[in-house]
Amino acid sequence: MSSSLADDLDGTAVSYTATAHPSLALVKYWGKLPGGVNLPATTSIAVTLDQLSSRVTVRAATRDRVTLDGAEAAVERFTPFFDAVRARLESSVRFRVESTNNFPTAAGLASSSSGFAALALACSACASPNRTPLSPSELSKLARVGSGSAARALFGGFTRWSRGAVAAEQLHPAEHWPELRVVVLKMSAAAKGVSSREAMERTRLTSPYFAPWVENNAAPALEAERALAERDLERLGTVARHSYLRMFATMLGADPPVLYWLPASVAAIKRCEQLRGAGVAAFETMDAGPQVKVLTIKDHLEAVLPALAEVSEVFTVCSPGPDAALGGSQESAPK
Ligand code: PMV
Repeated sequence: MSSSLADDLDGTAVSYTATAHPSLALVKYWGKLPGGVNLPATTSIAVTLDQLSSRVTVRAATRDRVTLDGAEAAVERFTPFFDAVRARLESSVRFRVESTNNFPTAAGLASSSSGFAALALACSACASPNRTPLSPSELSKLARVGSGSAARALFGGFTRWSRGAVAAEQLHPAEHWPELRVVVLKMSAAAKGVSSREAMERTRLTSPYFAPWVENNAAPALEAERALAERDLERLGTVARHSYLRMFATMLGADPPVLYWLPASVAAIKRCEQLRGAGVAAFETMDAGPQVKVLTIKDHLEAVLPALAEVSEVFTVCSPGPDAALGGSQESAPK
C-alpha cells in the first residue's frame, strides 16, 4: 500500500520548484558510446521550445518517490539520476517529486528532456540549499544522467551536445532567431510502446546501419551549426530532414525493427513536401514517437497552419525558448 504524501516528507518539507522546456533536436542524438552514462555517439544540434514545459516540485523526504502528471511513476527510472545528484552534492537526501507537463508525456515530444532538466535544478537546490548553485554546465552533466537530451534542455535558444561530451552547451540564445517557429503536431497522445532508450540501444546492438549513421554524423552537425549561425532556414531544414530520416533508417534496420510512424505522420511529411514545392518554408522532423514538428518562419505561418491542420491536430506553435529556471509557472500550451 502506498503511503500518503505527508508520511514521506521530512520535518522541514521546504519545496523547490523548477521549470524547463523540451529540447528538439534538429540533428539527432541517437546511440550511446559504450562505457559511460548516456554519452552520445553523435553530435546533436537543437532548439529549446518555449510553449511546452515541464514543472517539477521537489521536497526532502524519507524515500525517493515520483509522481508524473499525478500518477505514481516507477522510481527505478529515476534512481541513477537521484544518486548522481546525491554523489555530486555529498548529500543523503531523498526526493519527493511532483512533475507535470503541459503536453503528452512519453509520446515523442521530448518530455524526458525538459523533465530531467527541471529536476537537475530543483533536486540540486533541495540537496544543498546553502551552497552556491551549480553552474549550468554542471547541471547539464547531472540532467544527462536522467536522459541524454536533458543535457541540452538546461539551455534556452540553440544548443550543441558534442559526441562523447558530458554536458551540452548553448550556441545562441533565443534572441538569435526570434522569427523561427516550430509547429508541433499531435498525431497521438498515447505513450509510445518502445521507449527511446530501448529503441536506441536495440539500434546500436542490431542495426547494420548504426555504424554508418555514426560515421556520417560530423558533417551534418557542422552544416546545421553554420546554417543556424546564418539563420538560413532552407539549409537548416534540409539537414534536419536528412538527420531524422537517417535516424529512422537505423531503427528500421534494427532487429526487431522499430517503427514509430502513424499514417498521420506520413500525411504531414507529404504535406510539408507540397508546401515546399509551393515555395513555403516547412521542414519536418520527428523523434522517438509519431508526432511531427515542422520548422518554419513567422511570416509563413499563415500558409503552413491551415495546410497542416487538414492532416493533423496542430497542438501548439513554438518559438525558441528560455533557459531552465528555478521557480516559474506553467500555462497550458496555447495555439
Ligand atoms: O534523451 P533520450 O534518451 O530520450 O533520447 C532522445 C532521442 C531523440 O529525441 C530521438 C533525439 C534527440 O537528440 O533528442
